[in-house]
Amino acid sequence: MALIAPSVLGADFSRLAEEIVDADRLDIDMFHLDIMDGRFVPNISFGPGIVKTIDRLTDHFLDVHLMLSRPEEYFDAFHRAGADSITFHIEIHPDPTEIVCRIRNLGLNTGISLNPDTPIDRVLPYLKQFDYLLIMSVFPGFGGQEFIEATLPKITAARRYIDSEGLLTKIQVDGGIDNHNAETVVGAGADILVIGTAFFNSTDRRDLVSQVHKYHYPPTNNTTG
Ligand code: DX5
Ligand code: ZN
Repeated sequence: MALIAPSVLGADFSRLAEEIVDADRLDIDMFHLDIMDGRFVPNISFGPGIVKTIDRLTDHFLDVHLMLSRPEEYFDAFHRAGADSITFHIEIHPDPTEIVCRIRNLGLNTGISLNPDTPIDRVLPYLKQFDYLLIMSVFPGFGGQEFIEATLPKITAARRYIDSEGLLTKIQVDGGIDNHNAETVVGAGADILVIGTAFFNSTDRRDLVSQVHKYHYPPTNNTTG
């Protein structure tokens, strides 16, 4: 069964509490929280204060995606705000070994992310140190972008590597996922779909969650031969 992580960036921030409580009542698996500093990505989102507010509204797992040029300076702040997992980018820390220990020492889960133009080979040697691999399927910075199909082979390659090495690392895919492409992304090997715009704009969020939960890898082969 594939898991779903609504990305709060896609919520209506004028009604943030309602949006969180509404999603919280559904059978979602975690919240995905995008933190942007206007340096690593050309946009600014929100910080630990909003994460703390969200933490008070839900008992769901809070997965914090740091799109920051100096992520390590904020690990403590997001830990105190209620993060359950922290993800940072391989483009900032090409050898993430020492940095990931700092997150683990806080007792949190850890993730490593890569942009669409970063080769998958860059992260594979480090995957055993991480709970999550977050494959960006758009260039990070904004919600509502179109899914980049060319990232599908990276998902497949990561899936093969993780399975062949017997790792526990879960593959998350982030950006441009909707009810039209979700099954394909899971079919390529994703464990967890991060969905922002398509989740919060959906007229039937409950149905979207149950659809994602029906998908799994490897895809069911319906042919009877
Ligand atoms: C993009 C963020 C994503 C984004 C996904 O920089 O990392 O998490 O919120 O939103 P959608 O689903 O709208 O592409
Ligand atoms: Zn994200």
